[in-house]
Amino acid sequence: MLILRALEARTRERVRAEVYDYYAGAAGDERTMAENAEAWQRVWLRPRALVDVGAVDPAVTLLGHRLAAPVLLAPIAAQRMLHPDGELASARAAAAAGSLYCLSTRATADLAEVALAADEVGAPARWFQLYVHDDRDRTTEVLRRVREHGYSQVVVTVDVPVPGRRERELGHGPVALPDGVEMASHLGRGEGVAAKPMIGGWDATLAWADLAWIREASGLDVIVKGVLTAEDALLAIDHGASAVVVSNHGGRQLDGTLPTAVALREVAAAVAGRIPVLVDGGVRSGSDVVRALALGATAVLVGRPYAWGLAAGGPEGHGGEAGVREVLDALIDDTARALALVGATRCADVGAEHVRLRGWD
Ligand code: FNR
Ligand code: LAC
Repeated sequence: MLILRALEARTRERVRAEVYDYYAGAAGDERTMAENAEAWQRVWLRPRALVDVGAVDPAVTLLGHRLAAPVLLAPIAAQRMLHPDGELASARAAAAAGSLYCLSTRATADLAEVALAADEVGAPARWFQLYVHDDRDRTTEVLRRVREHGYSQVVVTVDVPVPGRRERELGHGPVALPDGVEMASHLGRGEGVAAKPMIGGWDATLAWADLAWIREASGLDVIVKGVLTAEDALLAIDHGASAVVVSNHGGRQLDGTLPTAVALREVAAAVAGRIPVLVDGGVRSGSDVVRALALGATAVLVGRPYAWGLAAGGPEGHGGEAGVREVLDALIDDTARALALVGATRCADVGAEHVRLRGWD
């Protein structure tokens, strides 16, 4: 959608070049980031005419929670680099739109603060994205707090055993946080981690068997984010995952992977409806959301678009909650419109018959 491009352009004018490059950039030649977006455009829609679409409702039920539309906010690090309200603004906007916010481990607000902000607006649910620290006791303590503060799922990101090589960041050096902003430890004892968003300390030994202790330490179900193959989707099911997210981290990790639209088809076929399959990467319109549904997704997550809304969206262009809301509302409205235009009144009515794949395989 043009509005998303306009918000990105406005953000670029407004923030430091190193901040823009941190959000906009990806790994290697940035091919995978581009191919994520391109792959959706190689899914042609096959609309059906004269279907009664007088009452379209894009709402979906996901892991027991009713959402206004199958569009969620992906975990994005260090949001106070984009706006002083950072993660609190995004969490509030998602709640107010009836959507769901996934808070990053690499946040600039504590998980308790974000929980409170989301709940004040009546969030249907909220998720916590996990990176496992080298010091696992520390992660165990974070997970205890994740549960204590009412998060309903732990989203374990599995595509960052090591950071991707992001040349825009290497060009600037690690991006600096604004004065007075620090990375949250999520330990709730004011022990801020004064590191840069991408500095490591994450456990590269993490393996499938570890999902069990993450579940045990949190007492919560685990979603696996960063699956690109049928094999890993089946392993996720074997290890008790409640859902998988087909993702290549917006192209920020391994450059040259399958675009997520392509991987989604393979993963959805393997999962065969046993657990919800979510997808992210390059989703930029309601048509893209409908394409994802047709390829077997239950819902999508969006990343960069709402970062641009947070920095520069909203009626006055001041970003914050209104800015994120502008992006979510536009995507949700466009999803309802795209459903009507393909001849579906509900997300569940969209199927493989609504698309044809151009030049795949
Ligand atoms: C991310 N992403 C991410 N994922 C995650 O699990 N934890 C995180 O902390 C972050 N941080 C992060 C920062 C920035 C600047 C970006 C752009 C992305 C990945 C994110 O959740 C999602 O997978 C992608 O952003 C989806 O692709 P699009 O919508 O940005 O194309
Ligand atoms: C990133 C990390 C923080 O993509 O997930 O920058």
